[in-house]
Amino acid sequence: MLYLIGTGLYYLNDLPLRALEKLKNCDEVFLERYTNLNDISFLEQLENQIGKKIDIIERETVESELIIEKASKNKVALLIPGDPLAATTHFSLIAECKNRDIKTEIIHSSSIFSAVGETGLSLYKFGGTTSIPIYDEHFHPESFFEVIEENIKCGYHSLVLLEVRNKEKFVSALDAIQILKNIENKKGIPIVDWNNVIVISKLGSSDQKIYKSGNEEIKNLNPPLSLIVPGKLNENEKEALKFID
Ligand SMILES: C[S@@+](CC[C@H](N)C(=O)[O-])C[C@H]1O[C@@H](n2cnc3c(N)ncnc32)[C@H](O)[C@@H]1O
Repeated sequence: MLYLIGTGLYYLNDLPLRALEKLKNCDEVFLERYTNLNDISFLEQLENQIGKKIDIIERETVESELIIEKASKNKVALLIPGDPLAATTHFSLIAECKNRDIKTEIIHSSSIFSAVGETGLSLYKFGGTTSIPIYDEHFHPESFFEVIEENIKCGYHSLVLLEVRNKEKFVSALDAIQILKNIENKKGIPIVDWNNVIVISKLGSSDQKIYKSGNEEIKNLNPPLSLIVPGKLNENEKEALKFID
């Protein structure tokens, strides 16, 4: 049996209550953190509550046979930041379990995908999501801009996820904005409403920040970070954006 359990938007104890009962009954519990940098200071308390250790595992282990092998014999849970199936590749685990007749259950949770509603932008009006990866000497893709272009053409907002590997290695808000501005300049057609691009840091934490991209403070923001490039704004959305500095 495999449980995929979302731990929620930011803190490990954003975990749904229903998940606690499942975790108590599991033989083994794993936690992955490579798909987001959430706060796990609640880990020890959670281990005490469920009466077992929680193993933090890397991408290689999640993508190996290990979890599936264990789930074929025992009750296994994998804890995943946010919602387990939002912007992650974990459905492949479910598919593999289905192929092998291993039972699965998914416990959904709060996610950046719905929490961005806090900006006042309508979730009905978001188009495709895209992400900006960490650039290096040989890797500087620009294809994410095409998603934003397509969304803007249709009047849709774009949620832009910024890659984070750890507290030191992440795409900063300033870098992301500069990257987007460079690509837009290169294309030679101004399409982004820069006055209303929104920067979001650590949403759902006691230290969350939501700013317009022109705000000086954006240089000090910590991950996880996301941007919203607005599409066509309706009157309610224009009013809501007045609350953001
Ligand atoms: C690969 S996605 C995983 C999303 C997660 N499964 C969820 O449902 O929220 C991770 C990216 O989402 C964005 N993100 C996640 N949590 C966030 C938060 N609390 N505040 C701002 N951005 C966040 C960041 O861009 C981060 O790099």
